[in-house]
Amino acid sequence: MSTRYSDDILFFDNINILDLASTSQTPFYLYSETIISNNFLAYQKSFGNNQHLICYSVKANSNLTVLSLLSKLGSGFDIVSGGELSRVIKAGGDPRKTVFSGVGKTEEEIRFALSQDIMCFNVESHDELDTINSIALDEGKKANISIRINPAIDVDTHPYITTGMKDNKFGIDQSEILEIYQKASNMNGVNIIGIDFHIGSQITDVKPFEESVLKIVSIVKTLQKNNIILSHIDIGGGLGIKYHNEIKPDKNTFISSIIKLLQPYDVTILIEPGRSIVGEAGLLISKVLNTKKTTSKEFIIVDAGMNDLLRPPLYDAYHQIKEVKRNNDGKVLCDVVGPVCETADFLGKNRHLSVTRGDYIAVESVGAYGFTLSSNYNTRSKSAEYLIEKDGVTIKKIRERDSIDQILENEIKHL
Ligand code: LLP
Repeated sequence: MSTRYSDDILFFDNINILDLASTSQTPFYLYSETIISNNFLAYQKSFGNNQHLICYSVKANSNLTVLSLLSKLGSGFDIVSGGELSRVIKAGGDPRKTVFSGVGKTEEEIRFALSQDIMCFNVESHDELDTINSIALDEGKKANISIRINPAIDVDTHPYITTGMKDNKFGIDQSEILEIYQKASNMNGVNIIGIDFHIGSQITDVKPFEESVLKIVSIVKTLQKNNIILSHIDIGGGLGIKYHNEIKPDKNTFISSIIKLLQPYDVTILIEPGRSIVGEAGLLISKVLNTKKTTSKEFIIVDAGMNDLLRPPLYDAYHQIKEVKRNNDGKVLCDVVGPVCETADFLGKNRHLSVTRGDYIAVESVGAYGFTLSSNYNTRSKSAEYLIEKDGVTIKKIRERDSIDQILENEIKHL
């Protein structure tokens, strides 16, 4: 995270956060174009001359400007809904570099994706394969497909964000893989092009990825023997970042180890990173509304709540919280909580901070699954989002804060 203090004022890139916060409505998200680009380019560089496509996972941060920035850098996209595909198109992204993941694609979404000639559907079940085949036949098209395998790999992350373990809902069991590929190879509406997996998120160890790739390699060999030849292997996303005490895995080491395992097979390598591109590029800036001391605790009550940042209550996630104006005196042990009427409404517990009413705090590493998981719970507006441009000093507003009229506009009052 590239925040730093200068004369006890917090800076992000070259932006004085105190100046920005005092002249903007809080809470708001603030992203760094430089960090997003650097992360993307680090992946790009790690691949060298090896055939690859980086399909940024839209769910991590789907702001149109963020998508446009990544598209201009050459990124493809990993989507999980027709809505995300609409975003990619609106942002100027290329559907032909877009893979469609997810266990529950609707008929409308499949038709829409087919009409946009997406690169491929990552198929998650026999039923879904049948549906895609029949829709493609109906449309007079052939849908490119990859089958998502569940590699049954244990990963050390929060249970809610594992996706490739035996009991997860994602992917096809290894024992059924050959059968489903054979079935697909006899279908006229689909064209087999790849295989994919995604084992989970916020994984800081490269080993489970390597183990999964080794499993894939043995499947690829079996498929080859059965005359099923794949043109790409998609290893999903999931590489973690440093939130607290984690040791951040190095992108180059990660990609090099994957390339080494896959080089003997003449395939394009796809990856679907989300968090490792945008996670560290975002701050949530919030104002202290009240401080409160009970007999057992001190609370800092800020204007950002669980509707703005759900990760702490949902995954017990840790995000560093910093004072925007640092005060080394009078630090207290406190919980930083929001205004939402839930005990689960906290941004951080047991922090040492020295702030009073009207001060600002910055919550770090919220660029991924921050705004995208936000909601209008308690009829609270979703925040504005800003981007600091490449020069480190120019700020663009990239999303307006919701107005209350917008929150209410789709409701129909009867009676
Ligand atoms: N590909 C697929 C098929 C996925 O399901 C995901 C994330 C990704 C790629 C991107 O994974 P990443 O590189 O960002 O780890 N809301 C949770 C994370 C959920 C991840 C779901 N799938 C959180 O805030 O930690």
